[in-house]
Amino acid sequence: MFESIINKYLDIGHEKVCQCSKNHLSCLTPKEWGRCMVGIWEFYYEKRDIRKKNLHPATYPIALPTKCIKLFTHEGELVLDPFVGSGSTLVAAQDLNRNAVGFDLKKEYIDLSESRLAQQNFLNTSQQIAIHEDALNIPNYLKEATVKLVVTSPPFSRFLDKPRLNKSYRSDLRVNDYYKTVQQYSTNENDLGTMPPEGFNDAIANIFKGVLPLLKPKAHCVINVNDLWWKNKRIPTHVHIIEMLTEVGYELRNVLIWDKRNLVNNIGIFGWPSNFIKMGATFEYILDFWRPPE
Ligand SMILES: C[S@@+](CC[C@H](N)C(=O)[O-])C[C@H]1O[C@@H](n2cnc3c(N)ncnc32)[C@H](O)[C@@H]1O
Repeated sequence: MFESIINKYLDIGHEKVCQCSKNHLSCLTPKEWGRCMVGIWEFYYEKRDIRKKNLHPATYPIALPTKCIKLFTHEGELVLDPFVGSGSTLVAAQDLNRNAVGFDLKKEYIDLSESRLAQQNFLNTSQQIAIHEDALNIPNYLKEATVKLVVTSPPFSRFLDKPRLNKSYRSDLRVNDYYKTVQQYSTNENDLGTMPPEGFNDAIANIFKGVLPLLKPKAHCVINVNDLWWKNKRIPTHVHIIEMLTEVGYELRNVLIWDKRNLVNNIGIFGWPSNFIKMGATFEYILDFWRPPE
């Protein structure tokens, strides 16, 4: 048993290979750093991004992990995405010559990640690996104090476990191939997207507890998350994630907003005139934690 766990450790680089100062958090110039200071971030999807819901129902744009990787790592350092989905984080890491490992419970998403990585050019010296595995088992693959950044977007509890109503689309565009279909990642009982809020909180706490010792001291852990409606109540998933991660030893550093208004297509007037509910799709949270210094 012990043997087989040891054998799983990945042979992947984690040391900085660039020439900039070791005391710097990353390779960013003062000008680039300045652009990150504003607490509201906006991103665009590019051609390489996966937008087809039948390939993966909830991807973030490559631009999101790109910004985090540039801000929090040097070339050659190791990036981890515990919920890698279509592999957007790995593609960003490949672009930026960072080593990276991503995990996902669903084999099709690992295959998709690998096919995206194969389409890139190989001018860099780093490695990006997608592994079909429950995020709970990540400590079997990576050595302690080797990861410089976690950047990820977990399932938002049972956010996708309802028929898609396309409320962020203009009414004439609303009825598309995915209208009123349920697009969960999987029905696997370990999939966080199948768990109601209470079970979800415990699962997140366990997974991130296992990941913490893998981080270098002061390494950042960036989590993109949205809140949820559940049984007609607002569930502040971002608050629960802050509580859970704090409980298992992370320290919250920043709360950033991903402003998604550039991606929303003429919102309807749902709830008018008696029940005001803001559109879920207009922003999401980007929670920035770190492993506290020793
Ligand atoms: C929001 S998606 C991530 C999307 C990714 N950021 C992208 O751009 O493609 C969350 C992913 O977590 C995966 N997942 C759910 N539970 C998991 C678990 N216990 N371990 C590993 N992956 C899991 C799902 O299969 C899904 O692909």
